Amino acid sequence: MRLSQFIQKNAPEIIKDWESFARDCPPSSELTLDELRDDIAGMLRFVIADMESPQTKTEQAEKGQGHGPNSRTVTGENAAEKHAEQRFGKGFDSLEMAAEFRNLRASVIRLWLKDLKNLPPEMEEMIRFNEAIDQIATESVSRYIERERRSRSLFLGMLIHDIRNPLNAIVQAAQVLEALGGVDEKKAKLFAQIRRSGNKIGELVSQLIDAIRLRLGKPIPITRAPLDVVQAVRHDVDEIQIAHPGQKITISAPDRITGEWDRSRISQIVSNLVGNALKHGQPESDVTVAISKEPEEVILSVHNEGEPIPPDEQELIFDPLTQGIGTAHENPDKMSMGLGLYITRQVVLAHGGKISVESTAETGTTFKVELPCHPLH
Ligand SMILES: Nc1ncnc2c1ncn2[C@@H]1O[C@H](COP(=O)(O)OP(=O)(O)O)[C@@H](O)[C@H]1O
Ligand SMILES: [Mg+2]
Repeated sequence: MRLSQFIQKNAPEIIKDWESFARDCPPSSELTLDELRDDIAGMLRFVIADMESPQTKTEQAEKGQGHGPNSRTVTGENAAEKHAEQRFGKGFDSLEMAAEFRNLRASVIRLWLKDLKNLPPEMEEMIRFNEAIDQIATESVSRYIERERRSRSLFLGMLIHDIRNPLNAIVQAAQVLEALGGVDEKKAKLFAQIRRSGNKIGELVSQLIDAIRLRLGKPIPITRAPLDVVQAVRHDVDEIQIAHPGQKITISAPDRITGEWDRSRISQIVSNLVGNALKHGQPESDVTVAISKEPEEVILSVHNEGEPIPPDEQELIFDPLTQGIGTAHENPDKMSMGLGLYITRQVVLAHGGKISVESTAETGTTFKVELPCHPLH
């Protein structure tokens, strides 16, 4: 039987065989069977149609470059592109994509050879050759992707770094203008808006610098120094309160808790968590910050009322670039990239601590940070 006929006749069996290998790919473990199979049948239909259409040597060679007849024109369906969209949404990287197609080819060949009688011995050699090329291609492409990702991150890092100086100049100029006074209320409001938006961009820039560092495999740098964490948090919360006069933030805490932490990173945790509570919580109700001391650690929790975070999103929100639905804001005061909790978690981990969230409609949302008071040796 010709190979194209074999594929047509045995498509369900081929897909089943392919599934057992495709399941090994890490993001696949999260997929339902329907999602995993997705457009594989459609792509096999293209393979059959392509193999059965008469082609010149040049046309055959063009396929090696991906310039052959478009699968959509051949079969009237765009299975390959749909597959790519779906896999992208499920977090596959390029190597994992390539592995799926390698496995598909291997499944087809394996089952076809089993079906054929009296195989010439060269066939086995051909299979070994294919496997060796697959191995070497995977190694080489994986190194290539890594290098490309690194150089892109480095470039982005330098660019973002260079945004800082002119941005600081804008914010400082706005501060000076505000301090000089002597302008009407409308102008004063505009100066304040420039300063606030500039500061906000500054925060995003810092978050991006941290995220790029992490992507390059460098941990968040932590400089510990003796600190009264209650005083530090009170100071940070007071500043946030001034910037949000319409919402109330209350603190409950003992007089002082001393230990060694990175002062600016504590501010980052507070500003992210309290900022989130103000931004994503119910605007009419208070945000509560509580600090308490355990024998070896300090517990910082931030609570707000409002729409709860759905249970299946409670782990995802700590991933980079994850935002809840409806949080893309036009208002520059509220602009964000969904990096806040990702970086907050990394800062907490770098201190040897942990962060968790509890969120229900009845009790509201509470983020809890546990930080050891001293470095763990
Ligand atoms: N206190 C909170 N209450 C409700 N939802 C929250 C809260 N904090 C975070 N979230 C959800 O988690 C998502 C990720 O938060 P974050 O990483 O800080 O990104 P961003 O605030 O930039 O959207 C938010 O978009 C929001 O959906
Ligand atoms: Mg945030």
